[in-house]
Amino acid sequence: NTGKLWGGRFAGGPSPELEALSRSTHFDWRLTPYDLAGSRAHANALHRSGLLTAADHTELLRGLDVLGERHAGGELHPDPSDEDVHGALERLLLEEVGVDIGGRLRAGRSRNDQIATLFKVFLRDHARVVAAQVLDLVDALAGQARAHLGGEDAEPTIMPGRTHLQHAQPVLLAHHLLAHAWPLLRDVDRLADWDARVAADSPYGSGALAGQSLGLDPTLVAAELGFSGSSANSIDGTSARDFVAELAFVTAQIGIDVSRLAEEVILWATKEFGFVTLHDSWSTGSSIMPQKKNPDIAELARGKAGRLIGNLAGLMATLKALPLAYNRDLQEDKEPVFDSVDTLEVLLPAFTGMIATLEFDGERMAELAPQGFSLATDVAEWLVRQNVPFRVAHEVAGACVRRCEELDVELADLSDEQFREISPELTPQVREVLTAGGSVASRDGRGGTAPVRVREQLDELVARAGGL
Ligand code: ARG
Repeated sequence: NTGKLWGGRFAGGPSPELEALSRSTHFDWRLTPYDLAGSRAHANALHRSGLLTAADHTELLRGLDVLGERHAGGELHPDPSDEDVHGALERLLLEEVGVDIGGRLRAGRSRNDQIATLFKVFLRDHARVVAAQVLDLVDALAGQARAHLGGEDAEPTIMPGRTHLQHAQPVLLAHHLLAHAWPLLRDVDRLADWDARVAADSPYGSGALAGQSLGLDPTLVAAELGFSGSSANSIDGTSARDFVAELAFVTAQIGIDVSRLAEEVILWATKEFGFVTLHDSWSTGSSIMPQKKNPDIAELARGKAGRLIGNLAGLMATLKALPLAYNRDLQEDKEPVFDSVDTLEVLLPAFTGMIATLEFDGERMAELAPQGFSLATDVAEWLVRQNVPFRVAHEVAGACVRRCEELDVELADLSDEQFREISPELTPQVREVLTAGGSVASRDGRGGTAPVRVREQLDELVARAGGL
C-alpha cells in the first residue's frame, strides 16, 4: 500500500515530479474547517443509515473535533506527501482514531462530491463578507452624499457633470456620488441571487459522478451544511463549476465598479481638478519628492480590477469544452476565485476608508460647474418653456455659445442687449437658469439632479441597502 487514498491497485508510489504537480495543499488547506464540517455531516448520515454504530459514530466525531481544535490552534499541517486537503485530513483522522473506525468515513462519498460541496460553503461564507464590505462602501458614499446635500442654511455642492469627460451639465456632487452607489448595490443583489442558487444545490451524495448506493440521505448533509436542497443530478453536482465562474464575475464587476470611482478620485485629486484632498491616513508619500501625496488606494483599486477580470477569464478558459464529469482540470478552479475574494476583502475596507475621509472642495467645484457653457441646455429648455420649438431653441442656444467663444466669456456674462441680438425670445428672464443652482433645481423629474429629487434618491438608496 502506498498510503494514498487510492493505493490499492498501484504497485509503487507516485514519482516526486507527479506529486509536485498534483499537490494542492498549499492552496486548499484553507478548506480544512469546511472539509471537517462535511465529514461530520457525512458521519451523521452514515450513522442514520445504519452504516456506523453509535460507538464508532461518537469516536469519529471525537476524532474530527480533535482535528478541528488542532487546526484552530495552528497545530495541524499537511505533509508534503499529502495530495490534497481531503487526503491529508483522512490521514490525520486515521492517525487519531485508527483505521478500523476512521476507514469507515469514506464510504458513500468521493473527493469529487466533497470538493464541490465544501467549495460552495466556503464561497458562500466569503460572498457574505464581501457583500457586507460593499454595503460599507455604499454607506460611505451615502454619508458623503448626505454631507453635501445642503439643507436649512447650507447650499448643496454643485459640480461639473461630464459626458465624454467634457463639461456637460451641472449636477449635485451627491447625485454623482450616488451614481457610484447604485451599481454597488446591484452587485450586492447579485451576490444574494447567487447565494440563493448555490444554496439549493448541495452536491454531497453525488459520489464520484454516478451517485451512491448506500442509502444515505443527501438532504441530511445538505441541511447540516446550510443548504436548502441537494443536487438533482450527480453528474452535474460533481462537474458543474458555473457557481465559481458566476462568483468570479460578480467579484470582477465589483472591481470594475470600484475602479470607475477610483479613476475619478485619481483625477479629482490632481492639481488640475483640485476637487478633493485625500486624508493623510488614506494616502501615501514619495520617497524622493517631499511634496507628494499619492492616491495609492485608488490606483491599487484600478489595478486590482484587472486582476479580478483575469481571474474570471482564466477560470472560464479552464471550464470551456471540459467534458463531463469530473476532470482534474477542475482543481484549477480554486486559486483564481480564492484570489478574487481575498483581493476584495483587503481592497474594500481600504477603499471605503479613503472615500469616507475624502474632503471635497465645494467652492472649486461650484466655480467650475457653470463653465464650459454647461448651461447651454438650460437656455434651450428655457426657450422651450417659452413655447419655442426645441430645434430652434437648440440653434439659438448654440448661437449664444458661439458668441461667447468670440468674446471669450461665459453665457451669464452676455448682456441683455447681446441676448436680444441673438434672438428676441431671449428676454432678461433667461438669467434665472443661467446659474448652476438654477440649472440643477430645474431638473426635478424623477432621477434628476434637483436637490429635492436627490434627497428622495438618497432615502430610496438607504432603504434598499437596508433590505439587503
Ligand atoms: N483536489 C481535487 C480538486 O480540487 C479534488 C480531488 C478529486 N481528485 C480526483 N482524482 N478525483 O478538484
